[in-house]
Amino acid sequence: MSRLQVVSGKGGTGKTTVAAALALALATEGKRTLLVEVEGRQGIAQLFETEALPYEERKIAVASGGGEVYALAIDAERALLDYLQMFYKLGSAGRALKKLGAIDFATTIAPGLRDVLLTGKACEAVRRRDKKGAYVYDYVVMDAPPTGRITKFLNVNDEVAGLAKFGPIHNQAQAVMRVLKSPETAVHFVTLLEEMPVQETADGVAELRAAELPVGKVLVNMVRPQLLDEEALRAAAGERRTAVAQALSAAGLGGARRGGHAERLVDPLLEQAAEHAQRVELEREQREALAGIGLDTYELPMLGEGLDLAGLYRLAAALRTHLGADRAQGAA
Ligand SMILES: Nc1ncnc2c1ncn2[C@@H]1O[C@H](COP(=O)(O)OP(=O)(O)OP(=O)(O)O)[C@@H](O)[C@H]1O
Ligand SMILES: [Mg+2]
Repeated sequence: MSRLQVVSGKGGTGKTTVAAALALALATEGKRTLLVEVEGRQGIAQLFETEALPYEERKIAVASGGGEVYALAIDAERALLDYLQMFYKLGSAGRALKKLGAIDFATTIAPGLRDVLLTGKACEAVRRRDKKGAYVYDYVVMDAPPTGRITKFLNVNDEVAGLAKFGPIHNQAQAVMRVLKSPETAVHFVTLLEEMPVQETADGVAELRAAELPVGKVLVNMVRPQLLDEEALRAAAGERRTAVAQALSAAGLGGARRGGHAERLVDPLLEQAAEHAQRVELEREQREALAGIGLDTYELPMLGEGLDLAGLYRLAAALRTHLGADRAQGAA
């Protein structure tokens, strides 16, 4: 299991939710995970129903089994100050730069610099050790930019190439790249069983592979239960109105006469069943398309509207089941 877990995917498919659930799932057996966000949207704080996260790692949840989840909202400006501090020992000078707006300026004009600072901070957390030499975090889970931007975001070497050919920024990019391209990292894609997100996933995976970045799993989110068996689905997809009306009336639910009670009962029911059958068929097509990508997939259930903390723990439990099954398979 890679220690840096990057979660990307099409916008709105559940990246933040799934990243948080993964951080909870990995915080098993007393492990400690760090959940980081890089887009300054305070999505994690919202999800865990806490106040906005400062630029500071803080414990945000205890996983079932006792592990701990820490969270950090990485801020490019603050990361640049840390960085200047580290390399140039710019204590108060750094603060002066900030006052002048120079830091803001630097991170705005050079998106490559911004990205290397964000990924750099995450990689630093991955590699950090305590006094005894043990890793401070067993896993770092990143709520990452969406599919369309993820390769560029992670490919910091290319991004800063025009910016710095040597010196500390160049070295930093190299160090970050070593972690990102190694088996220490896995980049996952969250998708739904719908055409657009599945297509984006296929494109994203291809881009990532071309950049030689490590692709992880496809996390299929919001999977709805299949309510009917195969035979019932075929019936629902076809024209079985009269037969169903007759069956209903045989069951004592009104007469089978046209316009009778059972007829009125049957139409909306059949409509719903047909819609369900259609959706199941579409989902089947999307599953096939996903299988064509050739990655392992984990499916996560659709939970009710307005997912709350309890829902998040349920998703974490579902992920643990997948991770456990993977481990068992690996052992076999
Ligand atoms: N398995 C699920 N079941 C039900 N609702 C879900 C599930 N996963 C996510 N959601 C809901 O879907 C919405 C979008 O989720 P989320 O914010 O995690 O997506 P995102 O990909 O991070 O979005 P953005 O691209 O805006 O960052 C939220 O309202 C969330 O509660
Ligand atoms: Mg999000």
